[in-house]
Amino acid sequence: MKYVTLGRTGERVSRIGFGGFPLAAPNLSRAWDPYSTEGRADAVRTVRRALDLGINYVDTAEGYGEGHSESIIGEALAGRREGVFVATKVGLHRQTADEVTAAVHGSLRRLGCEHLDLVQFHGGAYDTDLTRRILEDGPMDALMELRRQGKVRFIGATTEEPVTLRPLMRTGLLDVVQVRYSLIHQGAAHHVLNEAPEQNLGLTVMRPLTSGILQYLAPRLLPELADACDLYEVCLRYVLADSRVHVANVGMRWPGEVEANCRLVDTFNPRFDVADLPRATRTVYKTLDAERKAS
Ligand SMILES: NC(=O)c1ccc[n+]([C@@H]2O[C@H](COP(=O)([O-])OP(=O)(O)OC[C@H]3O[C@@H](n4cnc5c(N)ncnc54)[C@H](OP(=O)(O)O)[C@@H]3O)[C@@H](O)[C@H]2O)c1
Repeated sequence: MKYVTLGRTGERVSRIGFGGFPLAAPNLSRAWDPYSTEGRADAVRTVRRALDLGINYVDTAEGYGEGHSESIIGEALAGRREGVFVATKVGLHRQTADEVTAAVHGSLRRLGCEHLDLVQFHGGAYDTDLTRRILEDGPMDALMELRRQGKVRFIGATTEEPVTLRPLMRTGLLDVVQVRYSLIHQGAAHHVLNEAPEQNLGLTVMRPLTSGILQYLAPRLLPELADACDLYEVCLRYVLADSRVHVANVGMRWPGEVEANCRLVDTFNPRFDVADLPRATRTVYKTLDAERKAS
């Protein structure tokens, strides 16, 4: 496993995190159900396999199956909590400090932890009113109080629409941001991925393998591409090759997926930094502009 420092937290974390969403979502095509006894046992085995192979960052949420993902991770972590960075999320339907505090206590209980390393506001898009509500109506105060009490170590926020997170990022109150970013989700590339390092924020990404979207589309739009390569692997290579991304939270259900992804992290040494891509393309456009002007 390869490790990286998670921004201002100073923690050394694995390049891939265990993305906990699938532990609350049955896979119908393979008749796998984390709510069944066998599915749950598989899921616990999968999380433990990830820990065995050096993954020390786990991402979950109270909202994943109303705590189901947290409870599976809690079972897997029993006796193995030390050295694992446990990140969860609090829903933005929690309107007051009391509601946020109660939700975090629920996460602590399900995860079987004395403290949580990171609690993130679980957002889609942050409009002005939502940002104001987080900052002024109690949710942020609640997390800061829990941090004072030692129940929470770091505070973060997650977003599907990275551009909307900028005002909250600029408050300086966040330690880590989680943004949607993949080969097909490029919104973060133009601002948040560049701005997060300026504030030394930890940066993790959601949906790094496109949540299966690219893999679903490819055989329908370009079967030659789907036949020619493993698109899960291509997607993982893409985020691993971006030096601005500290942790790619990868959803995994089976030990075999964990093993394949860890093997890739271990063996893949990118020859190009995707962080240079916007600069590289700008150079091309500039060159063309210059050529046009000269002609
Ligand atoms: N904050 C938020 O609002 C938010 C939103 C979305 C996601 N997230 C976080 O980000 C994590 C990742 O997102 P995600 O789970 O939606 O999608 P993802 O990581 O982009 O894709 C995960 C899916 O890829 C498949 N997969 C993984 N490794 C594979 C391999 N080696 N070979 C073949 N298939 C493989 C699995 O599908 P099968 O198991 O079905 O084969 C898995 O469910 C989530 O689990 C969650 O922690 C956060």
